[in-house]
Amino acid sequence: MKVVITREIPDSAEKLLKARGFQVVVYRKDDPVPQRELEKLVKDADGIISLLTEKFDKNLIDKLERCKIIANYAVGYNNIDIEYAKSKKIAITNTPDVLTDATADIAISLVLACSRRIIEGVKFMRARKFKGWKPKLLLGVEMSGKFFGILGAGRIGSAVARRAKAFGANILYYDIDEVPELEKETGAKKVSLNFILRKSDFVSIHLPFTPKTHHLLDKEHLQMMKKTSILINTARGEIVDEKELIAMLKARKIFAAGFDVYEGEPKVNPALFKLGNVVLLPHIGSATIEARNRMAMLAAGNVIAVLTGREPLTPVV
Ligand code: DGY
Repeated sequence: MKVVITREIPDSAEKLLKARGFQVVVYRKDDPVPQRELEKLVKDADGIISLLTEKFDKNLIDKLERCKIIANYAVGYNNIDIEYAKSKKIAITNTPDVLTDATADIAISLVLACSRRIIEGVKFMRARKFKGWKPKLLLGVEMSGKFFGILGAGRIGSAVARRAKAFGANILYYDIDEVPELEKETGAKKVSLNFILRKSDFVSIHLPFTPKTHHLLDKEHLQMMKKTSILINTARGEIVDEKELIAMLKARKIFAAGFDVYEGEPKVNPALFKLGNVVLLPHIGSATIEARNRMAMLAAGNVIAVLTGREPLTPVV
């Protein structure tokens, strides 16, 4: 059986699949495979390991002649038309858990980079501007004693909450479900979206991107945030109305924002590069050697399970 991996990922996945007797085809370039080429590549695949940069819409799914599984190499799966794949009896899997700590670490890194003005400090030093200690130089804000709002208290949101708690923050969360373990562990309180935005000094987004969360943070919601607050997005750019956020950052209506994801990726709104109160990362939430190896093994494990007639390990449908 043929398994296509749509970009080079840690070779442990390829090795495992080959050891189990699968024919493995890997798109070797380090850029997204052009759509036409992708169609040809996956047409006769029995299983696919896909990346979030590949869009599996109705059109592409219709071209799959015998595919049984698309194993997304990511925890998010908004690049795949899940309902349509389901109607075609194609299993879809993702890579939850294995990247939770890596992504939570990046969220907290962004919090600290914004709150303690780390990037401004680095730029200041490189520009040889440091002439000695100054009482008012690059004053930031602390997490201790502040309200830290988590939007989406799933695995990653909860891991961020635990980290913020360790920094002494009071945790609030917004989620459709109650998360009693998180409440017990961190004293977190479940509140409404409006409340969390009005009250929090830090807001960190950990929701999946769905039609319901598209521009969840629109102008009206962003305007509820405190002038002193910091917004962090390591989930998906489309959850925030980026234009409105940029306008607020420009007008200093919120203190700062940390981005690991962008609306309309891979494009990045050029206005962001001009702002001093943002920290921009190139979508590296899960980019640790450990997490990426575990993601590769889990994606391969899912393919093997489905193609040998077993249940997928981490199905999303
Ligand atoms: C994910 O897993 O959804 C991240 O965005 C990439 O690892």
